[in-house]
Amino acid sequence: MKIEDDPLIAIGEVAQRSGVKASALRFYESLGLIEAVRSSSGHRRYHRSCLRRIAFIVFAQRVGFTLEEIAGQLSSLPNRHVPTGGDWQKMSRLWQKRLDERIAELQRLRHGLNQCIGCGCLSMKTCMFANPGDLCAQNGPGPRRWLGDEMPVAQ
Ligand code: FES
Repeated sequence: MKIEDDPLIAIGEVAQRSGVKASALRFYESLGLIEAVRSSSGHRRYHRSCLRRIAFIVFAQRVGFTLEEIAGQLSSLPNRHVPTGGDWQKMSRLWQKRLDERIAELQRLRHGLNQCIGCGCLSMKTCMFANPGDLCAQNGPGPRRWLGDEMPVAQ
């Protein structure tokens, strides 16, 4: 579909349909993530296909991409026609690795919420076995187990 054939809708309708507040839409626009055209009265109008871009932005953030990364990904989409399934398919390859990492992270969270997470607190009974003397700190900051580290080996 040519971009000229893509219907224009008002910001309120975009906000309602996307579930993203108008203020956030304006913020996305200021970052160049989405584009508005001005009506003769000066009001913002968005192409309807923008809803897909917005859904992409929202979920890309949930997956863990930064807005800068998202902008980089969206810049590969064509601007002379409404992105096709093939255009989106190319972008989805970028997500695969991040999704795999995120899934592994979430699985560790699910399985380890009530166990030692290697955060350095040493506040749970299991810490003295799982992280004696905070050995996990050898690998860097943060909850090392949730970050994917194996049990540290005492030297
Ligand atoms: S839960 Fe924090 S070091 Fe074990």
